[in-house]
Amino acid sequence: MVSERAKGAVYAATRERLARLLDGEDDWIAALSTVACELHQAFDRFSWTGFYRVTSRRPQLLVVGPYQGTHGCLRIPFSRGVCGAAARSRQTQRVDDVSRFAGHIACSADTRSEIVVPVLGRGGSDVLAVLDVDSTTFAAFDAADEVQLDAICRDLGERFPHGELRG
Ligand code: SME
Repeated sequence: MVSERAKGAVYAATRERLARLLDGEDDWIAALSTVACELHQAFDRFSWTGFYRVTSRRPQLLVVGPYQGTHGCLRIPFSRGVCGAAARSRQTQRVDDVSRFAGHIACSADTRSEIVVPVLGRGGSDVLAVLDVDSTTFAAFDAADEVQLDAICRDLGERFPHGELRG
């Protein structure tokens, strides 16, 4: 189990790297890809790391990508799964044991816990995407992960206030 201090240092280094890499980047998909990659590489306990996006063509539907890891279900309605719950409620969902979450969608049979963080447009107006991180161990995510991942998603929402909903 990684210590809190070590985990904080990894997040700090990852966020610094992301700030450098995303400086001046105006492409939403390039930015999401880079966030998924840097987070996935930073932590061994992240078995699937990536985004489900909301597009202007289909409201209330999450479309997979970009992500790192094994197969991810391609589309998830807002009404389903942990991802849908995060999009619907606009609140981060931290699930210590996915078998106890009614409606959890098992893209991989190995997943034991997950955290899903909404990416909201500036001012919290629109849900632009959700960041989904899965782990093959139970209760892999704690309040410190939630704070850090929330901050990364808040930053994305500020940089790309419309995601791919307009413009
Ligand atoms: N478990 C998620 C589905 C996405 S995959 O885990 C990549 C859910 O229940 O929404």
